[in-house]
Amino acid sequence: MTTMTLRDVDVTGKTCLVRVDFNVPTEPGTGRITDDSRIRAALPTIHYLQSKNARVVLCSHNGRPNGKVVEELRMTAVRERAADWFGTTVVDAGLPGDGPAAGPNPALVIGNLKPGGIAMLENLRFNPGEEANDPAFAQALASLADIYINDAFGAAHRAHASTVGVAEYLPAVAGYLMERELKMLTRALESAERPAVAIIGGAKVTDKIHVLANLAKRVDTVLIGGGMVAAFLKAQGHGPGVAKISDDDVHTAGQLLFSSDASIMTPIDVVVAREFREHSTPRIVDITAVPDDCLVLDIGPKTRASYADEIIDAKKIIWNGPMGVVEWPAFAEGTRSVARAVAAAPDAFKLVGGGSTVAVIEEMQLRSEITHVSTGGGASLEFLEGKVLPGVAALDA
Ligand code: 3PG
Repeated sequence: MTTMTLRDVDVTGKTCLVRVDFNVPTEPGTGRITDDSRIRAALPTIHYLQSKNARVVLCSHNGRPNGKVVEELRMTAVRERAADWFGTTVVDAGLPGDGPAAGPNPALVIGNLKPGGIAMLENLRFNPGEEANDPAFAQALASLADIYINDAFGAAHRAHASTVGVAEYLPAVAGYLMERELKMLTRALESAERPAVAIIGGAKVTDKIHVLANLAKRVDTVLIGGGMVAAFLKAQGHGPGVAKISDDDVHTAGQLLFSSDASIMTPIDVVVAREFREHSTPRIVDITAVPDDCLVLDIGPKTRASYADEIIDAKKIIWNGPMGVVEWPAFAEGTRSVARAVAAAPDAFKLVGGGSTVAVIEEMQLRSEITHVSTGGGASLEFLEGKVLPGVAALDA
């Protein structure tokens, strides 16, 4: 789908309401931001608007405060980190509405902004009208600006006042980050680059089933890892140990295995342990010999090698979800070996998404080897499922 972008409007001297996704991970207890890549990803749009002397009004949600003010979910730390990256002050602009979130008066703060100046609203989800997509809250947001720019790809799967409702009342276009995300994800699904490999991991097959089904129609090979391996093994008639797997998951895995056009590759060996604990003793076993009292916690070395062979020859790679319990060193090697293979694949288009997958890429310092690291978790999955995202559909065409 094509939408209008920043390139299609004249923002010179205008006040622009920019929806960003600055819902960033923080350290429990201290509130320290542990990954600010979503803030950095907004820089192209911010710099462009500043170069056009636009007044920039940023707005984002942070966490899930459920329509109430939650002190630790205020935008203060995000605003300070944004100011560091933007190299300029980011003024606290409060939140429209008479609710308990009322801080500074947004209209007054924004009215005092100089050309090129930046303000940030308080956490949008402090107002219950945000998640309810309440027209009154959407109108209140719209009244603060001349143009609405959606750069919050990570929140585009939510039909909220700041992602959908507000677009009714203002010219509504995609920012540069949103534009790039849509271009890269569309390429992942639609380009003719072959061979194409999808690597899908993560906890439960039900969470990823629609993504798997859609990708299996569009790639040559799907490599399966993570918690969902157990469902695939059971569907193939192997004893998957003690993991609790729903009949639905096994049925779904079986359907995919036996009816997909793509070749669905499942592990030939796995790393198992008796308990789901970081320091459980790991054992490598073939999938025909998974003990009844064990859990599958990673893919094994033979599987890593065969997956790497597929990845290295690919011209298009789509990866979402870890191969094992990547947070625990004894069960991280499957994911890390896939990361190394993806990084090493020569001349391939490479798209990586999903929180823990991206965290591995960052920690292994492989970001520069990846064509596009998506800022969207749920949003990128829904896109890969083939869904139209409401926040994209709401923009002017
Ligand atoms: C995300 O982190 O995936 C987005 O910011 C959306 O957050 P949400 O799942 O709370 O809507």
